[in-house]
Amino acid sequence: MADLSVNIGELKMKNPVMTASGTFGYGEEFQDFINIERIGGIIVKGTTLHKREGNPYPRMAETPSGMLNAVGLQNKGAKYFADHIYPRIKGLDTNIIVNVSGSAIDDYVETAEIINELDNISAIELNISCPNVKEGGMAFGVTTTGAHNVVKAVREAYKKTLIVKLSPNVTDIAEIARSAEDSGADSVSLINTLLGMAIDAERRRPLLSTITGGLSGPAVKPIALRMVWQVANAVKIPVIGMGGIMDWKDAIEFILAGASAIQVGTANFIDPTTTIKVEEGINDYLERHKIKSIKEIVGALEV
Ligand SMILES: Cc1cc2nc3c(=O)[nH]c(=O)nc-3n(C[C@H](O)[C@H](O)[C@H](O)COP(=O)(O)O)c2cc1C
Repeated sequence: MADLSVNIGELKMKNPVMTASGTFGYGEEFQDFINIERIGGIIVKGTTLHKREGNPYPRMAETPSGMLNAVGLQNKGAKYFADHIYPRIKGLDTNIIVNVSGSAIDDYVETAEIINELDNISAIELNISCPNVKEGGMAFGVTTTGAHNVVKAVREAYKKTLIVKLSPNVTDIAEIARSAEDSGADSVSLINTLLGMAIDAERRRPLLSTITGGLSGPAVKPIALRMVWQVANAVKIPVIGMGGIMDWKDAIEFILAGASAIQVGTANFIDPTTTIKVEEGINDYLERHKIKSIKEIVGALEV
């Protein structure tokens, strides 16, 4: 076996494979298919301070090589997570990371404070793609100031590893990544979904109730790879890459581009055993190339 272990902030992971938020529930849902303790880290569903019903149906649509979703962060709120879900999953021998979302800075901070009290949650992944309702609805993560304000506030409230998840719906993702780093992020993860749209021509109707939604899956991979490469060259903190990773080869490409770890998202819906196959494939690749540790190939792209 090659050494697959990686560190992200204070997080120690047995391998670089994680699950992307919103595509793996709370992990429990996948226990019948795989041994989820073999995964390096599980990022649970987007969690907000208060319960959210999500958007009306239809909120998923298939597109060529990808899918659109507009789930709208349906969840039962941070307190419910802490009281009811956390006790069920806290004993798992893997890193459990909570994806935190909000519509105002105070919401993010209060949610982070609740999660901070949970001993076996090793990190927060801060989803800054959410609209800032108090300031006109523009997403926090699309300006350096918006990103700075929310990351700084959460950094003061949250004592453990803070991963900031970047939005790809920006002109220059590297400057947003630098802003997150300067504001105290221990790591950045990217990409979240790309804003897209699908139309049913016969009915002259959009396929999603919200008209637009987030595109994910193989269709976004080249964009994600480009952004991971740009960000890895712009910051010193570890980068976590995702966007269309379907197999081990995709994962290796992200690692060569500069990702220290990767997340599997949409692929979980197609094959719930993808994470394990990716982990095995990464190990085989390293053995085949006689590389002792995964760390040796992070950012090892030759240009
Ligand atoms: C159904 C669905 C729900 C998602 N929910 C969240 C979420 O709650 N928080 C978040 O930060 N990202 C969420 N995402 C984005 C994914 O975590 C990931 O960033 C994106 O899908 C790109 O990776 P992929 O192409 O491997 O799916 C969601 C994606 C999908 C498809």
